[in-house]
Amino acid sequence: MLESIKEDIILSNKKSWDDAAPRFFGRTALPIYGPILPTENELNLFDDLSGKKVLEIGCGSGHSLKYMASNGASELWGIDLSDTQIEAARTLLSVVNNTKVNLFQGAMEKNPGIPIEYFDIVYSIYAIGWTVDLGRTLQNLYSYLKPGGKFIFSWEHPIHSRISQNGEQLIINKSYHDEGLQQCEPWDRPAIMNQLRISTYINELIQTGFQIEKIVEDVVIQEEIKSGDPAVWYTHKKASLIPPAFIIKCIKR
Ligand SMILES: C[S@@+](CC[C@H](N)C(=O)[O-])C[C@H]1O[C@@H](n2cnc3c(N)ncnc32)[C@H](O)[C@@H]1O
Repeated sequence: MLESIKEDIILSNKKSWDDAAPRFFGRTALPIYGPILPTENELNLFDDLSGKKVLEIGCGSGHSLKYMASNGASELWGIDLSDTQIEAARTLLSVVNNTKVNLFQGAMEKNPGIPIEYFDIVYSIYAIGWTVDLGRTLQNLYSYLKPGGKFIFSWEHPIHSRISQNGEQLIINKSYHDEGLQQCEPWDRPAIMNQLRISTYINELIQTGFQIEKIVEDVVIQEEIKSGDPAVWYTHKKASLIPPAFIIKCIKR
C-alpha cells in the first residue's frame, strides 16, 4: 500500500498527464533517449532485439514500443499512468503485425497484473523520475525481469533542474543535496516529480539487486543547432557545461 499522500500525487499527476498527452505525442521515444543525448543508433545498449519480450515503464504514446517491434521484439508490453497516452499507444500499435501487444493504464509503483520473471528487457525512456516511490518501482520492475534480463532507462540529469540559465549566465538556484517530491518547474499545472541525486539512483539500483553495466552522461551537440533559445528548458549552452540527462543500463543478477 502506498501512503495516501503519494496516492493523491499520483492522481493529480494522472490528470495533468491526460491533459498534456497530445503535447508529448512521440516526443521522447527510441532511438532517442532524451534531449541532446546520443541515440540508440550510436549506443547500441539494447543489442539484438529479435524475439525479445519487452516491457516499457511510462510507455507514453507507444512510439518506443513501435521502435521495439520494428527491430524484431516478439512481445510488446507497456504501462502508463495516463488513459490518454494508453489510448494513443493502442491506436499507434494497432497496425503492428505478428507481435503480441499488452498495455496497462496504471502507476509504475504498483503491479496491475504484469507477469513475474517474464521479460528479457524492461526499459523506460524519460519516465522513471515521475515515480513517487523509486524503491518500490525498482522492486516491481526487477520482479518482472528474468534472471539476466536488462533494465535500461533514461531520465533528466538531477543537476540540470538545479541550474537555471539567465542569458549567458548559469545560476545554481537549488541545492543538489535537496531530494524529494517537488513541482516540475516547466509545467504550469500540478506535476510532482521526484528530485533525486545520481547516487540515490545508483544505490537504489544496487539495493534492489541490479548490477550496473553502463552509465551515460554524454551529450551530442549538433553544430547547426548550437544557438539554442535560452527560454527553452534544455539549451545547448547548458548542455555544453552540464549533462541534461543520463542513461543507465543494468542487469538482474
Ligand atoms: C515523457 S513521457 C514518456 C514518453 C515515452 N517514452 C514515449 O515513447 O512516448 C513520460 C510518461 O510517464 C507517464 N507517467 C508519469 N507518472 C507515472 C507513473 N507514476 N506511473 C506510470 N507512468 C507514469 C506519463 O503519463 C507519460 O506518458
